[in-house]
Amino acid sequence: MREWQARYNARMPLCFDLFTLLPDVCVAYTRESILKRAQESGLVTIQIHNIRDYAEGKHLTTDDLPYGGGGGMVMKPEPVFAAVEAVLGGGPERAAAPDGEPFVETQAEARPAVPVILLTPQGRVFTQAVAQELAQRERIALICGRYEGFDERIREHLATDEISIGDYVLTGGELAALVLVDAVTRLLPGVLGDPTGALDDSHASGLLEYPHYTRPPEFRGWKVPEILLSGHHARIEAWRREEALRRTYLRRPDMLAAANLSEEERQFIAELAKASTEARAHE
Ligand code: ADE
Repeated sequence: MREWQARYNARMPLCFDLFTLLPDVCVAYTRESILKRAQESGLVTIQIHNIRDYAEGKHLTTDDLPYGGGGGMVMKPEPVFAAVEAVLGGGPERAAAPDGEPFVETQAEARPAVPVILLTPQGRVFTQAVAQELAQRERIALICGRYEGFDERIREHLATDEISIGDYVLTGGELAALVLVDAVTRLLPGVLGDPTGALDDSHASGLLEYPHYTRPPEFRGWKVPEILLSGHHARIEAWRREEALRRTYLRRPDMLAAANLSEEERQFIAELAKASTEARAHE
């Protein structure tokens, strides 16, 4: 049985452990709306751990100057290792061979079951497919950096994965971790009121989503497309699919190559392309 099926059958929540130097920021977001309800329903747990609680010395220092010089501060390894090992277990003692052989395993090898994910701009890019992959796990640890970066030993010997939410640089990993927690949680069975909600999402089907309308049928003279008021479900479905194709073609043509399209749909895209070439020729 897959990890998530066992978890779901046993009514076990997906457990996030978020390690950060800004716990208040993370707590605030996870206490609202759908994430709040998902926790109350026991579908997910989100534990937020302050890395500074595991720092030592009078000043509870979590950063230091980079060896070799250069600007910026580097996140020290000791408090990050201590925090993750206190929460997830592990550490050199536990992983050491029982016959007294020297410790050779990395943390990643000693603790394969729980992914330990660093949020950095250098990681693999977070997509809906990665969210779906993570939604299958039982427990996920997320480490948020501050300062210029992590001491490389955190990357090499503690993390099992590294994720970026896009090609830009934030001041820390907190927003990225919250993006990940949010996108993964809403995929868990039972989290969204409408169980089909996540299926039509932009990106879930490989296409952008069709346009949505609600009441009133006319607002400032702008009308809701007639077809949506017709009650004709098959025609509405066909209209929505065409609009999703049109929108994807116009805004994200790069997504079309990987999308699962019928011969008819490919034909529809070819016609859109032809029409836009002709329109450009008449400009
Ligand atoms: N930390 C700083 N920038 C980031 C990014 N783009 N993704 C994930 N974590 C980050």
